[in-house]
Amino acid sequence: MAAFACTCPNEQAGCTTAECDQAAQQLRAWAARCAGFFTQETNPGARVHIGRGGRFGHGYRRGRARSPVVTAGYNAPSYWTGLAPRARVPCFVVTTAKTAKSTKTVLSGIQPTGEPHLGNYLGALRWWVDFQDRYDAFYCVVDLHALTVPGDPEVLSKATLTMATFLLACGLDPERCTLFVQSHVHEHAELTWLLECSASMGELARMTQFKDKTSKGGEEAARLGFFAYPVLMAADILLYNADLVPVGDDQRQHLELTRDLAQRWNTRYGETFTIPEAAIAPAGGGARIMDLQDPVHKMSKSSGSDAGLIFLLDDPKVIERKVKRAVTDLDPPGPGAVRWDPKGKPGVSNLLELLAALKGGKPAEIAAGYESYGRLKADAAEAAIETLRPLQDRYRELAQEPASVRAVLAEGAVRASEVASRTLERAQAAIGLLPF
Ligand code: TYM
Repeated sequence: MAAFACTCPNEQAGCTTAECDQAAQQLRAWAARCAGFFTQETNPGARVHIGRGGRFGHGYRRGRARSPVVTAGYNAPSYWTGLAPRARVPCFVVTTAKTAKSTKTVLSGIQPTGEPHLGNYLGALRWWVDFQDRYDAFYCVVDLHALTVPGDPEVLSKATLTMATFLLACGLDPERCTLFVQSHVHEHAELTWLLECSASMGELARMTQFKDKTSKGGEEAARLGFFAYPVLMAADILLYNADLVPVGDDQRQHLELTRDLAQRWNTRYGETFTIPEAAIAPAGGGARIMDLQDPVHKMSKSSGSDAGLIFLLDDPKVIERKVKRAVTDLDPPGPGAVRWDPKGKPGVSNLLELLAALKGGKPAEIAAGYESYGRLKADAAEAAIETLRPLQDRYRELAQEPASVRAVLAEGAVRASEVASRTLERAQAAIGLLPF
């Protein structure tokens, strides 16, 4: 936080001086806590002012309308302020040095599969947070995707709320992006059907994720929804006219399919959809974080053991232990042993990539500073612990307020539906359905 200026506590209508002073102190504390949200990196020159209730209104104004100014007021939501749910705070304004957002639109999604891991964070979520200031951003918890594999209905609804809580804890801000649950916007399922009637069995059968998961004779038992899942993902993206889709490297093929489906549709039925592009981190930038125990496979919930995964809520001691036990290789330590060579030294390269993605820099250059695996592991563990600490604190606070999180999701669904319904209508008309 570059500067914090309290301009008018005594002018708050109805406040005594003492109350105002107390509120100003709370706000300073809030500003300090928000340092993680408004870092110099994401918002150079961020400033916080206490404004006047009368001027900025009570309640909070939406900041996503291409405005560089975000305003909040009395009863600003507690996930913003870090104060108790109904704490009254004076109005404040967060002014970022950034000017208007780009006119491009971004969409991405994550499955509600319990606690996200560091791969999800580095490959996708941190970009989501970054992109919310640069683009018109839509993010969803894709609960319909979770139905493609067997699961417990009670677990699913809880996991959906948990994932939304994690997304807010990572730094998504409902003032700067639209956060919603996929099944709350019925247009996703409806557009999926239209797209399925234009996709072929052959192109879906070529999806490597389906082939991998059914390679050992599971094809017969695989759910139809699991086979058709990439079409649902295409519908998610196309409904919002997304130009960019921030994802990890494992989603590259699904993005290609989305582009193919959109291009085919536009050729057959006329211009309907925007052709999206995948926004994937460059090599070495966290686009494919590997399992610490099995570094030739990506870090994934579906791996047999948790030992190779760092979860976002892992305790510092657990992170240290997992990284310490990470597989490296049999080369003796010494000059040149720590080098960026994803094929020849996948374990060491994964640790270098983790460090680069967490602290900045290029893995090959970072490698030059190390001769021992032990020091590399210690630094990678520390970087993970330091990155996750504020996120874990925020998660624990937000988890106390499920009603606030649900309110964010409800507002997000309304905003998302406004866009999705227009696109669906356009697609229905293009394909020849009789208007209602
Ligand atoms: P999901 O839920 O498996 O993962 C969410 C995001 O995390 C990324 N990711 C990783 N990145 C780097 N290293 C890893 N080890 C790693 N593991 C996961 C994923 O690439 C993803 O970006 N089909 C999607 C969800 C989805 C979606 C969408 C994404 C549904 N609709 C529309 C974008 C746009 C999935 O299963 O992601």
